[in-house]
Amino acid sequence: MLMNAVESALVDSAPRRLLQRYEAHLLLELGGRTPGARTAELGCGPGYGTQLILDLFGAASVDAVDLDPAMLAKARRRLRRHGDAARLAGGSATDLATAFAHVGGGTDASYEAVFDFAIIHHIPDWRDALAEVARVLEPGGRFFFDEVTATALARPTYRVLFDHPTHDRFTTGEFLAELPRHGLDVGDRWRTRIGGDYLFGVAVRAARGRT
Ligand SMILES: C[S@@+](CC[C@H](N)C(=O)[O-])C[C@H]1O[C@@H](n2cnc3c(N)ncnc32)[C@H](O)[C@@H]1O
Repeated sequence: MLMNAVESALVDSAPRRLLQRYEAHLLLELGGRTPGARTAELGCGPGYGTQLILDLFGAASVDAVDLDPAMLAKARRRLRRHGDAARLAGGSATDLATAFAHVGGGTDASYEAVFDFAIIHHIPDWRDALAEVARVLEPGGRFFFDEVTATALARPTYRVLFDHPTHDRFTTGEFLAELPRHGLDVGDRWRTRIGGDYLFGVAVRAARGRT
């Protein structure tokens, strides 16, 4: 689901970049760097997360997808200096094969890490997004997630300022419980912030056949 004008402006702002750096460092503590890795990013927005995946996590490449052409245009400008290391595509995080068909990306077990910086709560069928993450991760691959839970989305500030799907939003417990259904093992590599409003974690893709 696309962001409204207020959220679009906030997502491409200096405070968001500061916050996203903090989030990335928390994910680094939980899951480590990804040096030289082939990675994918769901809902890259204006591309600051993509930049962090390359510069801070040390990935070799990022296939970054977003539904919103305006956000992709911003990301393209931000990531110009990274050349082919950042491949951007329009499409849905629930179908990476279609989004990256033109470059042969998004195939089964094709990434060593997948990043979700605050996007899965925008997807009505959020379980399908987790299934897609599991499909494209190689065994042992890591899923780094930073999510906004139903607790936050129910707050008046979120309801007044932003647009999100209103049905079937996930709590921390529901998100964590869904991961192993897709062969994603999170163990104790997760944390919450601000009374359960925000969830951070790193899950590892089990070997095939263990889903
Ligand atoms: C809250 S913003 C997060 C942007 C960026 N990852 C960040 O952390 O600043 C959510 C982004 O997800 C995108 N989005 C929403 N639904 C999507 C979907 N089904 N597939 C891909 N991108 C989606 C939106 O267009 C938006 O850019």
